[in-house]
Amino acid sequence: RATMPRPADVPESLADARAAALQCRRCTLCEAATQTVWGTGDPDAAMMIVGEQPGDREDLVGQPFVGPAGDVLREALREAAVDADRIWMTNAVKHFKFTPRGTQRLHQSPDRGEIQHCRWWLGLELAFVRPRVTLALGASAAFALTDDHTALAPRRGHVETGLHGGPVVLSWHPSYILRLSSPTARDTAQRALVADIRAAVAKAN
Ligand code: URA
Repeated sequence: RATMPRPADVPESLADARAAALQCRRCTLCEAATQTVWGTGDPDAAMMIVGEQPGDREDLVGQPFVGPAGDVLREALREAAVDADRIWMTNAVKHFKFTPRGTQRLHQSPDRGEIQHCRWWLGLELAFVRPRVTLALGASAAFALTDDHTALAPRRGHVETGLHGGPVVLSWHPSYILRLSSPTARDTAQRALVADIRAAVAKAN
């Protein structure tokens, strides 16, 4: 029997939000992905780190930043003397977007519409965790948090005000660092990421 659409129930806690996100069908990405990858870490964290979307490994494991990009991020956190368990780590988009190629699943960047649909969940994470600072990794996270889709390079290392009203430090995405072919460029970008993590820590204190 047909029913009239009702306003979406607004989750009352981080746990409720996660439970609702696991059932999300706001866009079509849920159809091919294995599962929703919700944030992990300390729900009382002073710092939130936002990536783009789960990668192949994250999609299978169900946790953010557990693949090669996560190794780069975790190494940068160690260099900045930040305990990864004391932050909240999540993504702008909670489902893996990919194109099948033989036995592989090739990463595809989420589009602006998908990022906007998924902002509902990011907004709930921000509202319940209430971090003092957010670190945006890459252009998708920057757009999700600030609604500004202009190029990241001139904005990297700067602090902007997020849609939620809090400070957002912008940095490179670890996958971008991994893709740089020159070791010197990779080293420079990695050092910039460490410096941006330190800047975010300073903002949080
Ligand atoms: N890249 C991201 O942006 N997030 C992850 O969780 C993994 C890779």
